[in-house]
Amino acid sequence: MFQINSMFGFLIVNGFLRCGRLSWRSIRIGWGSWIKSTTTIDRGSAIGSHFTVRGAGSLNIGRYCAIGESVRIITSNHDMKGLSLNYLVQDRILGKRLTSDKKDVNIGHDVWIGDGATLLPGIEVGNGAIIGAGAVVTHSVEPFKIVAGNPARVIRSRYSESVIKKIEYLAWWDMTEEEQEKYAHVFESADQLNDGLLEHFKE
Ligand SMILES: CC(C)(COP(=O)(O)OP(=O)(O)OC[C@H]1O[C@@H](n2cnc3c(N)ncnc32)[C@H](O)[C@@H]1OP(=O)(O)O)[C@@H](O)C(=O)NCCC(=O)NCCS
Repeated sequence: MFQINSMFGFLIVNGFLRCGRLSWRSIRIGWGSWIKSTTTIDRGSAIGSHFTVRGAGSLNIGRYCAIGESVRIITSNHDMKGLSLNYLVQDRILGKRLTSDKKDVNIGHDVWIGDGATLLPGIEVGNGAIIGAGAVVTHSVEPFKIVAGNPARVIRSRYSESVIKKIEYLAWWDMTEEEQEKYAHVFESADQLNDGLLEHFKE
């Protein structure tokens, strides 16, 4: 059972989506992906093959994210208080499944997630952050930080605090594609982002 809803370029998956390859407006999802629970994917985000979303919570992916292959996002934990963690045992003995501990995962705009990374329930990833290949992300990630490893730790920041403030102010992900394309040189290198140009952007 799956349903795809569209609203202003959002892709909303309610239920289960097992897809070969999905290309819908400006959103791409790679071959062999398996998306469960309520997931929203905003415009311009591209996701590699074998993307897996599991769990009972929601997942929200912002605009223009670049998500590698075999990335796994989990949005709930099993209930750990009962005697058994197994749903088949719970169904048989209790006649119900013990409620999962739902924890939504929220991913900002222009986030890059390397191949094979796993994000655990409840993670928030800030705009412009990078998650290294194979990382297991156990804590939320600040905007524009690069994290890697298991458990993922901050390696460095992508930019100085002053450049980060300028990019957040610019919020290019909220612009139209035509507006973005006028400033191609800044997309080539964020060093081009000076105060004068920022004012120009906001005019
Ligand atoms: C996270 C990443 C962007 C960092 O690149 P970088 O800033 O150039 O980092 P460096 O190579 O200088 O490494 C810095 C440190 O982090 C470690 N590190 C880098 N990437 C790592 C990773 N994925 N897992 C664990 N440690 C990592 C390095 O070993 C190094 O540690 P050291 O200082 O102890 O030697 C890159 O390593 C990565 O994982 N890219 C994802 C590639 C990918 O999946 N591409 C396809 C998807 S579209």
